[in-house]
Amino acid sequence: MMPRYFKSLCGLLLAVAGSTSFATEPVKVVLEFEPDPANGRYLFEICARCHLPEAWGDNEGNYPQLAGQHTNVLMKQLLDIRSGRRDNPTMWPFVQERTIGGYQNLVDVVSYVATLPMNPHHSQGPWPQGTEEYKEGMQLYQTNCSSCHGAGGEGDNASYYPRLQGQHFSYMKRQAIRVRDGLREVDPAMAAVIKALSDEETDKVLNYISYLPVPAKDLAPSADWRNPDFE
Ligand code: HEC
Ligand code: HEC
Repeated sequence: MMPRYFKSLCGLLLAVAGSTSFATEPVKVVLEFEPDPANGRYLFEICARCHLPEAWGDNEGNYPQLAGQHTNVLMKQLLDIRSGRRDNPTMWPFVQERTIGGYQNLVDVVSYVATLPMNPHHSQGPWPQGTEEYKEGMQLYQTNCSSCHGAGGEGDNASYYPRLQGQHFSYMKRQAIRVRDGLREVDPAMAAVIKALSDEETDKVLNYISYLPVPAKDLAPSADWRNPDFE
């Protein structure tokens, strides 16, 4: 099967390792590899030790939902974690060149992750639709976040804007705190809006995001679905 994102991965320009601030002095690497999801499946065994075979993340927010994330976003995170630009001491040793290999293997593992259906029961915030907090979160989202992350939280592959729809509430909360405290370097415009929000506003906006619906076609049929490649 030729993955539909093949073209977007080909000739992709990535700002990688070495730059000290977002998109400044990037070492530009042109990726021209044909993704091989079968090799990706093999490599994903390393990842699955932590991320589990479904790559669905957990409700406590220690692990993100990787399934459904844009390939460029996944690739950028791998490169940022590998270079230490995004601090992740737990995962760091597993994405070094001597453990996982070069760009071809990264492209392959990302192409495999992209074949996985999403967790139909990601964790959500405490305020469902109809509550005041939900409405305030919606306002905040539309004013501060949707220009990049999209009206439905769908993100944008070409611009490296993560899909937030379907991401665990607690994981997003931890990431927002890391961005605010300068532990994760992101687009400066995003860092500025996050820093301008109070803790309460951050909770409300992430709560709203956690209720954004995920298109049914992207979801696994049930929460009991298990990745058959790992049976
Ligand atoms: C030893 C455990 C461990 C292993 C092995 C591991 N990861 Fe991770 N990974 C994590 C943790 C923990 C995080 C969340 C870090 C944080 O909170 O910033 C993470 C985050 C990520 C992210 C960032 C997602 C996002 O949206 O922010 C990606 C992408 C990722 N992992 C992919 C992989 C892939 C692909 C592999 C295999 C090559 C892998 N991981 C192996 C522990 C691991
Ligand atoms: C200027 C564009 C922009 C705006 C505005 C913006 N973001 Fe982001 N956001 C990004 C980018 C780019 C990333 C990925 C950063 C990286 O590569 O590590 C990101 C990452 C995130 C993440 C981490 C996702 C993950 O999978 O790890 C969360 C959560 C998030 N944004 C929430 C928000 C919220 C909430 C708002 C509004 C208050 C917001 N963003 C506004 C561009 C933006």
